[in-house]
Amino acid sequence: MQLRLDDEDHQVAFGERLGRALAGHGRVHLTGELGTGKTTLTRGILRAYGYRGAVKSPTYTLVEPYTLEGGLVHHFDLYRLGDPEELEFIGGRDLLADEALCVIEWPERGEGWLPVPDLVVTLALAEPGRLATLEAFTDHGRAVVDRLAAASLRPGAGHDREAGRAS
Ligand SMILES: Nc1ncnc2c1ncn2[C@@H]1O[C@H](COP(=O)(O)OP(=O)(O)OP(=O)(O)O)[C@@H](O)[C@H]1O
Ligand SMILES: [Mg+2]
Repeated sequence: MQLRLDDEDHQVAFGERLGRALAGHGRVHLTGELGTGKTTLTRGILRAYGYRGAVKSPTYTLVEPYTLEGGLVHHFDLYRLGDPEELEFIGGRDLLADEALCVIEWPERGEGWLPVPDLVVTLALAEPGRLATLEAFTDHGRAVVDRLAAASLRPGAGHDREAGRAS
């Protein structure tokens, strides 16, 4: 599934719909070059669980846990991860196994250590906006994509538009 997200507001709005579709659990990898909107998308996901504040990428602490009314969300940013061992030290294994939603920026840095994700969202520059490609790897991930696709077919749904079925 591909979506064109024309500006930051659309990026946040899509994140919020994605957050709702995830229903409070699962592992989501956000991949894409620097500045493609991974943290912005995470801000939208957190909104779905009632968080309205600013979202800072936990680049140095690797993970920021959010205990929210709507559930527990762990936001990882592995950009500065040197060695997956660091994830062991911070209790990453338990965090990932929690009945929580895990959103992981720069999952490439934890390759070989991270468990298989439910969903990979790949973001790319499509100036002036962004292109989001969703790929599911589990039943939960497939259910999430189905829910998003069904919602986008409802009249008046969403503000982002589907980028077509070319891929
Ligand atoms: N759909 C969009 N259209 C245009 N600009 C966007 C969109 N989404 C996010 N941006 C802008 O892109 C910039 C980078 O966003 P963000 O910090 O979320 O990227 P990132 O992928 O998390 O970066 P990093 O790799 O450094 O973690 C911000 O200025 C944000 O407002
Ligand atoms: Mg970021």
